[in-house]
Amino acid sequence: MQQAALAPEKSLAPLSDQREFLLRHYLTVRETSLRLCAPLSVEDHALQPISDASPAKWHLAHTTWFFETFVLSQYDKQYRPPHPAFRNLFNSYYNTVGDRPLRTLRHILSRPSLDEVHAYRSAVDEAMAGLIQHDLPPAARDLITLGINHEQQHQELTVTDVKNGLWANPLRPPYRIATENAIAQPKPAGLGWRSFPEGVYPIGYEGDGFAFDNEGPRHKVYLDPFRLASRLITNAEYLDFMRDGGYATPTLWLSDGWDTVRNNQWTAPLYWEQRDGEWWNYTIEGMQPLNLNEPVCHVSYYEADAFAHWAGARLATEFEWEIAAETSAIAGNFLDLGALHPRAAYGDGPLTQMFGDVWEWTASAYTPYPGFKTAAGAVGEYNGKFMCNQMVLRGGSCATPRSHIRATYRNFFPPHVRWQFMGIRLANGD
Ligand SMILES: [Fe+2]
Repeated sequence: MQQAALAPEKSLAPLSDQREFLLRHYLTVRETSLRLCAPLSVEDHALQPISDASPAKWHLAHTTWFFETFVLSQYDKQYRPPHPAFRNLFNSYYNTVGDRPLRTLRHILSRPSLDEVHAYRSAVDEAMAGLIQHDLPPAARDLITLGINHEQQHQELTVTDVKNGLWANPLRPPYRIATENAIAQPKPAGLGWRSFPEGVYPIGYEGDGFAFDNEGPRHKVYLDPFRLASRLITNAEYLDFMRDGGYATPTLWLSDGWDTVRNNQWTAPLYWEQRDGEWWNYTIEGMQPLNLNEPVCHVSYYEADAFAHWAGARLATEFEWEIAAETSAIAGNFLDLGALHPRAAYGDGPLTQMFGDVWEWTASAYTPYPGFKTAAGAVGEYNGKFMCNQMVLRGGSCATPRSHIRATYRNFFPPHVRWQFMGIRLANGD
């Protein structure tokens, strides 16, 4: 996935503590990638059902390649790549690094085998653990932190790509067996609105921790008064839109959206299926009856925008969303919880589900903030070159690691995309 340069580290902790923290963070994130793949067969690791997705084996190798290419090759003079050919084989999109196989053909890489990819991971982990013990320049530590955050992004992609790959099988096999003690999902409170006053607000990351380059520079934005919905839109509410002819009413849709709906014959969110008059949806635990209280998920920007029109509202801009999110704790249904599925809102707080559950489509195109400059070198290709034809999503999802998300975090996808955990929160003028 795409992202970039780092805010400088300014921690006053002793160096040894910094090394210890970095090593633990590195090893924990690397272990999480393996844990996510543990339920998969060797064959599952090779699935690439759509060109947007990548096989799980490729994710495991590419995240390892990132550390080898951008850290070990530059900062470990003793390091000898066990497989020099991997430098091109597992390159994703870095023209500065060199050539690479077609993205759409990642599923043909039956060699190296899964065992060889695991061994590659182990070799790089051993070298990385040794390197982190050394007194590294800040630039090296920053690159390691970038690599860790990069791997967390690929963890989310692993979940969504595997989900799509298993769903594409007519048997609709589950990623894992349904848990017996499913958490009760109470009917959410009615949709309320939280008001925010007009003002000139600071936008973008500022601080001593890690942030991607696309979250800055921090700058000021004027906002008219606005209201944000207290929770996400539920499946029940989306069904009302469908039953009211939402997918058959061209006046609700953007022109590109209407073309997309007709060309793809969309009549419901991705993974929804009608069986004997009842709606079911495919989840990480296989086909399940649609839970009306859960947030609607796997909808495109076009569907989110059409729903908002139908509801007499709109989507928030990314700036409105960020200002509202600054008032919320970063807590919610993240990858760490293990549900890997959005959950119904609970409680009647003024603003719930801002973080976790589903990425929230915003009305903002993904463009650079004023003064944005790409970093020098290959990592400059991480984010900046994707700032065209994509929309911003905010807040993270049930597949996002908790330590990965911030109020200023900008995710981005083309408006027709549905296979990520994407949902809807409404906004309105005051
Ligand atoms: Fe990547």
